Amino acid sequence: MIDMKAFWMATAAAITLAGCTTVPGDMETPAASTARAAEDARVADLLARMSVERKVAQLIQPQINSFTAEDMRRYRFGSYLNGGNGGPYGDEYAEASEWLKLADEMYLASIAPQADGQPTVPTMWGTDAVHGHTNVMKATIFPHNIGLGATRDADLVRRIGEATATEIEVTGIDWNFSPTIAVAQDDRWGRTYESYSEDPKIVAPLGAALVEGLQGRKGDPNRLGAGHVIATAKHFFGDGGTDQGVDQGEVTGDIEKLKKIHAAPYPAAIGAGVEAVMASFNSINGRKMHGNEALLTGVLRNELGFDGLVVGDWNGHGQVAGCTNTDCPQSLLAGLDIYMVPDDWKGLLETTVAQVKDGTIPMARLDEAVSRVLRVKYRAGLLDEFVQPSGRPNAGKYDLLGSPEHRAIAREAVAKSQVLLKNNGVLPLKAGANILVAGSAADDIAQAAGGWTLTWQGGGDLDNSYFPGATSIWKGLETAAKESGGKAVLSADGTYTAKPDVAVVVFGEEPYAEFAGDRKHLGFTDEEGLTLLRKFKADGVPTVAVFLSGRPMWVNREMNLADAFVASWLPGSEGAGVADVLTGAMPATGKLGFSWPATCDAGPLNGPKGALFAVGYGRALTDTSPTPQLDENCAPLLEGPSRALFESGRLADGVVAFAVKPNVEGVGEYLAQMRGDLTDSGVLVRGYDRNAQEDAREITMRANSRFGLSQTPDTGGAYRITYEVVTRPTAPIKLRVGEDALVDLTQPFAVAHGKGWREMLITDQCAPGLGNRIRFETEAEVTFRIASVVREDVAEGTACSF
Ligand code: BGC
Ligand code: BGC
Repeated sequence: MIDMKAFWMATAAAITLAGCTTVPGDMETPAASTARAAEDARVADLLARMSVERKVAQLIQPQINSFTAEDMRRYRFGSYLNGGNGGPYGDEYAEASEWLKLADEMYLASIAPQADGQPTVPTMWGTDAVHGHTNVMKATIFPHNIGLGATRDADLVRRIGEATATEIEVTGIDWNFSPTIAVAQDDRWGRTYESYSEDPKIVAPLGAALVEGLQGRKGDPNRLGAGHVIATAKHFFGDGGTDQGVDQGEVTGDIEKLKKIHAAPYPAAIGAGVEAVMASFNSINGRKMHGNEALLTGVLRNELGFDGLVVGDWNGHGQVAGCTNTDCPQSLLAGLDIYMVPDDWKGLLETTVAQVKDGTIPMARLDEAVSRVLRVKYRAGLLDEFVQPSGRPNAGKYDLLGSPEHRAIAREAVAKSQVLLKNNGVLPLKAGANILVAGSAADDIAQAAGGWTLTWQGGGDLDNSYFPGATSIWKGLETAAKESGGKAVLSADGTYTAKPDVAVVVFGEEPYAEFAGDRKHLGFTDEEGLTLLRKFKADGVPTVAVFLSGRPMWVNREMNLADAFVASWLPGSEGAGVADVLTGAMPATGKLGFSWPATCDAGPLNGPKGALFAVGYGRALTDTSPTPQLDENCAPLLEGPSRALFESGRLADGVVAFAVKPNVEGVGEYLAQMRGDLTDSGVLVRGYDRNAQEDAREITMRANSRFGLSQTPDTGGAYRITYEVVTRPTAPIKLRVGEDALVDLTQPFAVAHGKGWREMLITDQCAPGLGNRIRFETEAEVTFRIASVVREDVAEGTACSF
């Protein structure tokens, strides 16, 4: 292993202050080299005048709800973000003007005059506008990447990038954490829909096009100017290649082979001029990307010639071996330039400053990282003149959010992303037809939009009133039917009085994001659509199935019943694009970017082997060739949802592990794979080896912290928990079951302490009503371990035991 410190000392002399690299073979024009020299000079001048504290602050990225403008004035963070659940002043549904107000406030704090002679370096704000500027109300919601992959239309994706950048500018934000150029290889992965395709050749041009749309094309004098923001290619690399599709998991294999799949879209994004790359949560052959010098520096910088900044992912540095959220020189030394440290920014800032001062982090490496941040700011025009966000182009033009022009692009994208998998001739819908539109998803914009929509997970409480100006799939069909001289009726449960000519059944996955969307198999278990299709079949009504999903799934039962089947993906706010294709107003041109599985077993599917429909499949409306009857056997479907919330080191589908900050009800923090260090919540969960590697968890809860698991759907039954108490409780500890039942664990934990593994059984005898979640609540610090949490049916009257 290379001694990173020695390496940096030795190469310090060789690294220019500006720390730039030039892509091999990329000859600079005289104009470009003059510009480069001006950039170098500006960056070097700033750097020479900055203190260690100010330099480190450029590398610290906190989230908006964990610091104040006063903190910004004092520490001068180089950048900050809003997370998927964060909104200005604590309000996720705040008006756009509030976003702009916060941007101004933070910006002004970052450039406030200072007495110590430090140069002024404006801050910048990063956001996840991953399918439009969808953290903000009224924004245009474009289809998720999986749908855009089906369009194969780089020009369209470029226009989406431009529209998104403009909407971001309205709110005064500088930087987008998009595009995701993951090459998802196992559709059980909860982020499959963020991936354009399983084929890197499809991903690369679309990722590059989004970069060009967001930032402007290379050579365009307006690049990163009006109508443009900084883009981020993410997550470097291997995010889409984890074993069993486990989010943030482990990628194994020969590195050169892995690069050919997962690093393949990066040269195109870099060629398009992407200014930021986000490091990935996953590990590769045992080493977390956030601490992987060979890949972050060796491959990304040296081999691929990337000269922008590398930003970390949400506390991703804290997952590196030997690191915590507040202490991780390893990441900086490996090549990370900005730590995304949502809540623990203060501790990390202080530790990092101390590590520069004691030489753990060589000044050369610090300077290099800071110069990369400054360089991107320079290119984005942030260092030219100091203009506060509300004074910039497009800022405050609220009509641009969800403008008719942007919605038209989204509608075009929806139409082009529909993939027609089956058609017996029922499509296109006939003009003048009497159409019944069924399924609870038909008029549910949040479901059509998926995760990363207003909230991190999307869905849930978001009814259509949260989407002013948007059009549901139902509304689009209603308008189209009227225009054709026919009519459409909405009937979520499929009941009708007058027999319709045709029924359109809209159904699919409920929204999810990241690890909450990980699945053990691809069988689509929800039976609402199936029941409706069966009913219409019995009634002799022809059907069109519109399937909303973040991935291809095994839907053979539905496909057998329906006369036409459309993979609609996650179309977003312009549902009329679906009607455009169903009515034939637009041709069906969408092509699969992912292989569609023939069976529901869990194995990853890539390429034509074992596929029902291969990548590239997608019918024209005129293709009415028969679809053979499909096999309906699927073992996992017979099992029903898993009743083990946590077992063998893995959370079940639909289960999340969460903590709640002391004294703040309602604001949950999540632990991917039930692991992590949530300093603010006071909960530390580590992998623990009971019988196998990390098959259990060790949980340390600080005073007044809360930690738990919740299951959707609620499978019912008592809770059996296999546990071991490590430290004797010194104050009350309770288990909240469902909303209201509180079980006192203080005495049972005291008894169990030091006695090894035991089981507790929580029935409705001590927790009336039970419910879909359990939550430990402790008054003093305590450490215990959990090997499994399983729901089970017990005889009535069964007592609780510990
Ligand atoms: C995700 C990133 C995202 C970041 C900030 C992380 O959990 O992996 O894709 O950019 O959060 O919200
Ligand atoms: C944040 C997301 C983030 C996720 C990571 C959420 O609380 O809002 O932005 O990606 O946590 O675990």
